[in-house]
Amino acid sequence: MSDPIEINPISDACGAEISGVDLSKPLGNEKFAAVHQALLDHQVIFFRDQDLTPEQQVEFSRRFGELRISEQYESLEGYPEIIEIVKEPDSTGIVGNLWHSDESFLPQPALGSLLYILESPEVGGDTMFANQYLAYEALSPGMQEMLLGLNAVHSDASLQKRNAGRALRVKAGAEDRGVFEATHPVVRTHPETGRKSLFVHRPYTIRFENMTVEESAPLLSFLYAHSARPEFTCRFRWQEGSLAFWDNRCLQHYALNDYSGVRRYGHRVTVVGDTPR
Ligand code: SIN
Repeated sequence: MSDPIEINPISDACGAEISGVDLSKPLGNEKFAAVHQALLDHQVIFFRDQDLTPEQQVEFSRRFGELRISEQYESLEGYPEIIEIVKEPDSTGIVGNLWHSDESFLPQPALGSLLYILESPEVGGDTMFANQYLAYEALSPGMQEMLLGLNAVHSDASLQKRNAGRALRVKAGAEDRGVFEATHPVVRTHPETGRKSLFVHRPYTIRFENMTVEESAPLLSFLYAHSARPEFTCRFRWQEGSLAFWDNRCLQHYALNDYSGVRRYGHRVTVVGDTPR
């Protein structure tokens, strides 16, 4: 008989650690449903002490939907669905050290991302997550109503610039292909929970639709600061064998670049999402 599943929140805002699940084995329908529900309830779920091959990570991820093949980064050899998230001892930059939601510059941004860490610094390298349902719900009714009528333009132009200093392997030709751009509602409704969340992200959202960059900047700056208020967040301390699965439809995340001289290394898989509405 397998261990019972346990779900322990790590903050009131978001995030729960799940024990009693071995992701290297196919999950029965009941355990899978409990894991899926935990993701919807807590927005980001964490598993510790996992021993996963790339195939097993891909197999588990695939149960949540189609997987993205990155157009920006080289994949792990033999595994087109996996990109390597790496900071070498001599790298200065890392991936994800601005609050963001993955791939919001695409027409169908990521549903979720699954990061499995194989090498973790002794100190530092945590990841923070911020609940964007709470961010929306904490706004005044007047601001909520105004935002409900707005769309925003998202672009990966800044990502291309920020690749300098990172140990990532950018795909040949990726920098010549032009930028990805997509327009999405500023407040989106989660397709599974029906809840509304704020959907603007500092590195990718460049302006409101039908407005200039300059006109958009003051309100966007307010929303970026608001969306990362500490009371909406949780913080995860990685160990080797930890896997985090976050829901990009209602969450932003931020990887801390607060360590140097050591390696941090993981495998990330991205599940393709729907068109935000
Ligand atoms: C990311 O933004 O996907 C990177 C997260 C991390 O390295 O913790």
